[in-house]
Amino acid sequence: MVVDYASRTKKSKALYERAERVLPGGVSYGIRFFEPYPFYTARARGSKLYDVDGNEYADFWLGHTALILGHSPPAVVKAVNAQLENGTQYGTSHEREIELVEKVAKMVPSAEMTRFTNSGTEANMYATRLARTCTGRTKIAKFEGGWHGGYDALQVGVKYPFDIPESAGLTAGAVQDTILLPFNDLEGVREKLRDQQVASIVVEPVLGSGGGVPAEKEFLKGLRDLCDEKDILLIFDEVITGFRLAPGGGQQYYDVKPDISVLGKILGGGFPIGAFCGSKEIMEHLDTLAYKRPHYSFHGGTFTANPITMAAGLVTLKLLEDGQLINRLNKTGEKIREQLKDMFEAHGIDAQITGAGSIFNTHFTTQEVKNAPAAYKADRKRLVEYNLALIANGVFLLPTHNGVISTAHSRNDIEKLFAETEKYARRAKSA
Ligand SMILES: Cc1ncc(COP(=O)(O)O)c(C=O)c1O
Repeated sequence: MVVDYASRTKKSKALYERAERVLPGGVSYGIRFFEPYPFYTARARGSKLYDVDGNEYADFWLGHTALILGHSPPAVVKAVNAQLENGTQYGTSHEREIELVEKVAKMVPSAEMTRFTNSGTEANMYATRLARTCTGRTKIAKFEGGWHGGYDALQVGVKYPFDIPESAGLTAGAVQDTILLPFNDLEGVREKLRDQQVASIVVEPVLGSGGGVPAEKEFLKGLRDLCDEKDILLIFDEVITGFRLAPGGGQQYYDVKPDISVLGKILGGGFPIGAFCGSKEIMEHLDTLAYKRPHYSFHGGTFTANPITMAAGLVTLKLLEDGQLINRLNKTGEKIREQLKDMFEAHGIDAQITGAGSIFNTHFTTQEVKNAPAAYKADRKRLVEYNLALIANGVFLLPTHNGVISTAHSRNDIEKLFAETEKYARRAKSA
């Protein structure tokens, strides 16, 4: 497998050796590295990535799941080209930012008011601060396996085993107010929070880096009730699920309304973005006219509401708004999960396929995967081997991460995923 890949990716290898000298680990984000070295992308279009050696990949990673319309969709290219001629960064207020937040308000049930950031990390950071502002409480809660970006207070208990710090440099002070909760286990959550006063509980409707594990509907409903009982603000981190599971994201898909929502990825139409939103009553704490220091909750940033991002986001949401494209993707997602399960089963390989809507992941285990510990206890070595076998044959899933599909994916792309999985399963069985 590695030999196949190496013989096809000689120019990527040379670029990796060059990168290693100046980029720590040879990459701009640790998760983008995979063995023996990542390929280097030369261009991308529709459902495909093309590397510097001329190899084509059906792309199921899609820019960290951001590209629901595929690479360079014509409508986005047109809108961005038009905007390029009219300024790339204003640093002033402009109408597009209003249009986009109006669209978000129309689509996302909890989003009466919204503020933009440049990443999901920032949006989670500001959402947490806002929750602390509104409640006057210090402690916050998050779930095992939940990934909310690199903000210190939320970078706790992400990878198994959960008691090892996620990074050097996280001070005791930065993480001591974070309570770690068990996912899909309402009784466990109640127990952990019995004597605690927390400002917020943040949850991904489908665990992203935690293995593509969907929350159970009753679990999210139970969390909503618990938050109401204890005056806790419920935050949905919809950086992945927003505009993917439904036009209104996970909250529409599950019919559970959070107090604050965190958005990103798809919202930017392929450009950097994050956002957080909520009711007027909550979001008004960001209004520096209504609240003076020390009572307002700060938020800002040089590139917030960047006009290129706004233009790309706006055309993207317009295309997703009526739900037709998303419904179609969700049906294909369902088919992918079923067919992958059947294929591994047919070859006697124990595999659980997780995901929801147009998200999918594979876990080689006999155990049902209902939380991140179960995902981490599956055979990850085999998962990497499976993913690398796909990559060597022109199907890109970033090893161990979730796969997603876009409206640019054709039946052939999906068939290729199946055909290469079938080949892998056949070989794995006989090995
Ligand atoms: C659920 C979730 N929240 C937050 C983030 C962080 O977003 P960003 O990488 O834009 O900072 C991510 C990124 O993958 C994510 O998946």
